[in-house]
Amino acid sequence: MSVVAPPLTLRPPRPSDRGRVAEIVRATGVFRPSELDIALEVFDGAVQQPGADYHALGAYDDGGWLIGFACYGPTPGTAATWDLYWIAVDPGTHRRGVGRALMAACEQAIVAAGGRLVVVETSSRPDYGPTRAFYQALAYGATARIPDFYAPDDALVVYTKRLVPSRRERPHG
Ligand SMILES: CC(C)(COP(=O)(O)OP(=O)(O)OC[C@H]1O[C@@H](n2cnc3c(N)ncnc32)[C@H](O)[C@@H]1OP(=O)(O)O)[C@@H](O)C(=O)NCCC(=O)NCCS
Repeated sequence: MSVVAPPLTLRPPRPSDRGRVAEIVRATGVFRPSELDIALEVFDGAVQQPGADYHALGAYDDGGWLIGFACYGPTPGTAATWDLYWIAVDPGTHRRGVGRALMAACEQAIVAAGGRLVVVETSSRPDYGPTRAFYQALAYGATARIPDFYAPDDALVVYTKRLVPSRRERPHG
């Protein structure tokens, strides 16, 4: 059971958090160097023009230290589907509910913006096992898989979660 590191402040990050974001992404040990560049590109987009393509949320500890962040945005060309582009938590504070709190806040913001479906892409590699367990714990279902997508024997696993019931699931009346 997670124990939330109290008190946790969730707010949009500032451009000055960029170095700390890079530090967290590197510290997780799962991302390739090219993925760090993509993470920073998404972060830059989110802090420079919040809401244009990307939104970002940072989790700060009681000393104002950034310990996790998430980036998300509407999926272009869809009717209210949103992508969760990035989430990473400082390994020193894993399993304390920081990721769960970030995801809950992102989902809340997505619903408030009229979003209905969240899509998250991840890898089938064994070192992403905790990440897949995390999404499953948060009621994301593995709805698609593309074998050898990232590299031979490294599949793309697509997790989705409906934030608003589909028409089919809605009760009549
Ligand atoms: C995935 C990640 C963001 C989770 O952050 P976190 O703050 O540790 O997650 P939480 O403490 O909120 O965990 C919520 C639930 O997810 C599940 N979970 C999280 N980490 C897990 C692990 N290592 N093993 C099994 N289940 C895990 C648990 O059910 C957990 O609830 P519990 O602690 O009450 O059992 C973090 O592990 C991370 O930064 N990983 C590396 C980066 C990454 O893979 N990002 C996603 C890229 S696609």
